[in-house]
Amino acid sequence: MKVGILNGPNLNLLGKREPEIYGHQGFESYLEKLQADFPEHEIQYRQSNVEGELVSALHELAEECEGIIFNPAAFTHTSIALADAAKSIDCPIIEVHLSNVYQRESFRHKSYLSPAAKGVITGLGLKGYELAMRALLG
Ligand code: DQA
Repeated sequence: MKVGILNGPNLNLLGKREPEIYGHQGFESYLEKLQADFPEHEIQYRQSNVEGELVSALHELAEECEGIIFNPAAFTHTSIALADAAKSIDCPIIEVHLSNVYQRESFRHKSYLSPAAKGVITGLGLKGYELAMRALLG
């Protein structure tokens, strides 16, 4: 199975960015381990800090993959364009957040994406991506 992982703004700085919230590990090194744990499946990874690029990436990944793991980061709480894109594709999406957004500021409690997602994993750190993989493969 081919699975897409799409990360939104500032997640390119994972490991350096607010490590007390998001941890010390960068995404690339985590991805290597994740791919090694699922050798029979192909992971296609994309990251962008730009909303429109994320819209296009969702369209493209939906063509190429059978499932998408999506952390829209701050756009979760603001982007109708990303919510519309998620509703426009047939590919199942698992929404993942590293931090538990419900323990944080109230503006993080609203997700425009969740109604279009098959499921949501929040607060389990990078492990959330592995669990999302298992959910898609299961
Ligand atoms: C995040 C949570 C968002 O509220 C925040 O803007 C992020 C990361 C998370 O993975 O916990 O950038 O999506």
